[in-house]
Amino acid sequence: MMYKVLYNKKISDNSYEMAVVAPLVVKNAIPGQFVIVMKESNSERIPLTIYDYDKENGTLLLIYQVVGASTLELTYAKDEIFAVAGPLGKPNEICKNKSEFRNKRIVYVAGGVGIAPVYPQVKFLNEEGFNIDVIYGARNENLLLIKDKIESCANKVYYATDDGSYGTKGFVTDILEEHISDYDIVVAIGPVIMMKNVCELTKKYNVKTIVSMNPLMVDGSGMCGACRCEIEGKPKFACIDGPEFDGHQVNFDLALKRMNIFKEEEQIKLEQMKARLSAINN
Ligand code: NAD
Ligand code: FES
Repeated sequence: MMYKVLYNKKISDNSYEMAVVAPLVVKNAIPGQFVIVMKESNSERIPLTIYDYDKENGTLLLIYQVVGASTLELTYAKDEIFAVAGPLGKPNEICKNKSEFRNKRIVYVAGGVGIAPVYPQVKFLNEEGFNIDVIYGARNENLLLIKDKIESCANKVYYATDDGSYGTKGFVTDILEEHISDYDIVVAIGPVIMMKNVCELTKKYNVKTIVSMNPLMVDGSGMCGACRCEIEGKPKFACIDGPEFDGHQVNFDLALKRMNIFKEEEQIKLEQMKARLSAINN
C-alpha cells in the first residue's frame, strides 16, 4: 500500500512540512509518539515525530529537517510514499495521565525543529484546559517555525534567538533559568546538547524534567538496538521504551557520542544521494 502525499513544502532554509494521508496512524496517535517513513521500498527508514493530525480526514502532518541522505531524498516525495508506520513509541506522560498533572505548572522548552513534537502536546493539553507556557529558541528569526500555531494554543510563548534577531538574544536555557521558579515540570525537546543543559539546570532547582530522545533508529520495534540509550545506568530503547524519558536519569554524554559514530558514512551517503538525485532530475 502506498501513502498519498498531499503536499511536501519547504518552510525554512533546512526544513520541510509534509502532509500524508494515513488514517489508521492518525486514528490511534497520541502526542509524543512518532512514525517511521520510507520514500521508496529500498529507502532508509526515517523516524519523524508526529507534528499535527486531522482525525476527521486522516491527514498526518510531519515536519522534518534535511540532515542527511534519506531526508534529502524525502524532499523529492511528490504524489505518494512507500511507508508510514506507526504510531510508534510511548505517548507523552502528561497527555496520557492528564489528571495527575492538572495542578502542575508546566513549561515546554523547544529547540529548533524540536518545536514539531512540542506543538501537538501543547495543543492537546490546551484543549484539555491546561495553561502551558513555551520557551522556544532557534538560531535566528527565519528558523522559528509555526509561530502562529504555537501562540494559538500556548498560554505564553518566550522566544530566544542565538543572534538576537527575535525575542531574547541567547539560548532557551537563559530564559528558563530566569523563570525556573514559576514551574513544577519542564518538558524539553530539541538538540541533545540543549536537553543536557536544560537538565543540568533543572537538577540544580530540583524540577522534574521530561526529555524526548531522538537517536538513530532502524527498525523502530526494539529488535536492532540502534536507538539504545542509557537511562538510570540501564540500557533502554528509545523506539519502544521512549522516546520520552526522565531527563535527570539520561546519560547525555553517551547519547552525544553515539550520535556521531556514523558521521563519516553519513557524509559519503549524502554525497552519493546528491549525485543520484541530480542524475534523476536533470
Ligand atoms: P539548533 O542547533 O539550531 O538549536 C536550536 C536551539 O536550541 C538554539 O537556538 C538554542 O536555544 C538551543 N540550544 C542549542 N544549543 C544549546 C546549548 N548548548 N545550550 C542550551 N541551549 C541550546 O537546533 P536545530 O538545528 O533546529 O536542530 C534541532 C535538533 O532537534 C536536532 O538535533 C534534532 O535531531 C532534534 N530534534 C529532536 C526531536 C526529539 O524528539 N527529541 C524532534 C525533532 C528534532
Ligand atoms: Fe531498533 Fe529501536 S530502532 S531497537
